[in-house]
Amino acid sequence: MTKTIAVAGKGGTGKTTISALVIDYLARNKKGAILAIDADPSTNLNLALGVPLDDTVGDVREETATAVGGGQALGGLSKWDYLDFRINEALVEEKGFDLLAMGRPEGPGCYCAANNILRTSVDRLSDAYDYVVIDNEAGLEHLSRRTTRDVDLLLVVSDPTLRGIIAAGRVAEVVDELKTDVGDVYLIVNRVVGDRLSEPLMKAIEEQNLNLVGLIPADPAVNELDALGEPIIRLPEDALVRRSLEAILQSVNGGL
Ligand SMILES: Nc1ncnc2c1ncn2[C@@H]1O[C@H](COP(=O)(O)OP(=O)(O)OP(=O)(O)O)[C@@H](O)[C@H]1O
Ligand SMILES: [Mg+2]
Repeated sequence: MTKTIAVAGKGGTGKTTISALVIDYLARNKKGAILAIDADPSTNLNLALGVPLDDTVGDVREETATAVGGGQALGGLSKWDYLDFRINEALVEEKGFDLLAMGRPEGPGCYCAANNILRTSVDRLSDAYDYVVIDNEAGLEHLSRRTTRDVDLLLVVSDPTLRGIIAAGRVAEVVDELKTDVGDVYLIVNRVVGDRLSEPLMKAIEEQNLNLVGLIPADPAVNELDALGEPIIRLPEDALVRRSLEAILQSVNGGL
């Protein structure tokens, strides 16, 4: 059974940072085969993980549309097999995990058949893994559009601001309207200074009906790596950011 973990929340709250560290945690602890999916069109999960990226699912779609439009042969393959083959080419295989970037979403001229085939290909591919970790674009409508997968664990990330918590509340609300089935939904507050949240924030979390699972401290080392363009997984093993996230992951979903 594949366990699907999705990371969502307002822009710039730390979704990509946390996704990369979740992937690194699962890989280091040899939890099984891991597929990292970058569902953000600006494709930066690969940078956070320190892996090169040539091709996205979006590129495959555009290229196939051009090939079909131009009447070019697809190397003797059916469109279905060709898309499947190209998706596998777009997959980056690393030591502890594989990575697939979704790239740009379909444009207005895109034909649905290719999209449906691609979605099915990505879903079938995902079934071969023990864990699928999806780094989402800010907002949540994308969760349902890019894949048909059900999500076992949704981590909603917020910064320690009232606006962030309200946005997180909205994300959790939208979950109910999705076609995607979502299991457990937890709130992580990231970039926290000090060891607790202020009273007003705690009150807002309660009012938004959010299930706070843990805090991750603000750590200048994270910014420094980012500023230097270094992968976040270079963060020292004993960093409090890692430890806090590990404690969170061990307490959710029966412990990851
Ligand atoms: N715990 C932390 N301490 C310090 N800086 C952090 C922490 N978490 C994230 N950051 C910094 O915050 C910025 C945004 O992080 P990140 O890119 O992970 O957010 P995001 O939610 O994925 O953003 P986007 O919505 O643009 O995809 C980055 O510069 C990152 O280094
Ligand atoms: Mg991001």
